[in-house]
Amino acid sequence: MKKIGILFGQENTFPQAFVDRVNEKAPADIRAEFVQIDQVEQHVATDYAVIIDRISQDVPFYRAFLKNAALMGTAVINNPFWWSADEKFFNNALAVRLGVPVPKTLLLPSKERPADTSERSFRNLAMMDWEKAFAHIGFPAYMKPHSGGGWKNVYKLNSPEEFFRAYDETGQLVMLFQEAVDFTDYFRCYCIGGKDVLIMPYEPRNEPHLRYATEMKTTGEAGQKLLATMKDYVLRLNHGLGYDFNTVEFAVRDGIPLAIDFGNPAPDADVNSVGQANFEWVVEAAANMAIARAQAQKPGQDNLTWGTFVHPTAMAAQAAAPKTAAPKAAAAPKAAPAKKAAAPKAAAEKPAAEKPAAKAKAAPKAAAKAK
Ligand SMILES: Nc1ncnc2c1ncn2[C@@H]1O[C@H](COP(=O)(O)OP(=O)(O)O)[C@@H](O)[C@H]1O
Ligand SMILES: [Mg+2]
Repeated sequence: MKKIGILFGQENTFPQAFVDRVNEKAPADIRAEFVQIDQVEQHVATDYAVIIDRISQDVPFYRAFLKNAALMGTAVINNPFWWSADEKFFNNALAVRLGVPVPKTLLLPSKERPADTSERSFRNLAMMDWEKAFAHIGFPAYMKPHSGGGWKNVYKLNSPEEFFRAYDETGQLVMLFQEAVDFTDYFRCYCIGGKDVLIMPYEPRNEPHLRYATEMKTTGEAGQKLLATMKDYVLRLNHGLGYDFNTVEFAVRDGIPLAIDFGNPAPDADVNSVGQANFEWVVEAAANMAIARAQAQKPGQDNLTWGTFVHPTAMAAQAAAPKTAAPKAAAAPKAAPAKKAAAPKAAAEKPAAEKPAAKAKAAPKAAAKAK
């Protein structure tokens, strides 16, 4: 018997529907339930083959519990290590590397110094050249936390005056300063299991309960092309980041979808906001993914998904490690060929990028510089 658990917070509709769907369609040796946690002890396995995590972004105790569970062999969805590491600025940089267009973006030092630091802690940091930053990004612009969500502390700014007024409110938050995309279409796309993609027209300017009540404006051949491009970008981003369950937002300008927000590993899946048809799709896709992961799960091994960004490095490190390393090393040779197979595929996808030549050149150059 393999158990699939779902760990969740205040949401009400998705968890029960997910559990019911898995139990309806899974073979008799797989069951789903709400995760039950009591005493959490280091290096003690949970009895879940798979855990769908919908809440650890808000509960650090759960995040630590999930990392321990993952070490002991639970397939945690999404990978709690990657989720701990990623943030919007890195994700944007990776998108550029993957050939997915994103708005021009700068990272800003926090307005206030972090607690327990002083001026002396910042001797490496030059004074901000605001003129240069404004000239590069332009107005209107967005300013939003580099690690945030739920539209918290997201500002749309029309001038340097508005910028400084907003920046004054941001305290110790590290913010992104980003070109505002004046879009004709906007989309929110689920990506589940690194393969199932649902592209949902979304109108962020509507009231929250009406944001999915909209239609795609681009029609005909251009519309078909746009959908295919977005699907390709969604898959590239999710393979790169290594998310099993995520949403990607695009703002479309001049026919080009620019990725806006694509690290949403506990995306809204409430029937009351996404609507019945989208809800049905996500319940079905999530149940199928969880069942497949439960079937593939190998107790005591690493059953996480790692992004193509992290993976080659992790594999190289394992190959170089002394033979006496971990008893788990047996897993490495098995996993390695799969990874190698994945790499050329990702490379083959690259030519579809907006400017393949420029992008391909940029990558090695940056790497050389880093040395
Ligand atoms: N560069 C941008 N251009 C246009 N709209 C943006 C941009 N950045 C953010 N937005 C708008 O602000 C909303 C919230 O920003 P987002 O990056 O999604 O933050 P969060 O992670 O808090 O949801 C987006 O759904 C979008 O409507
Ligand atoms: Mg968002």
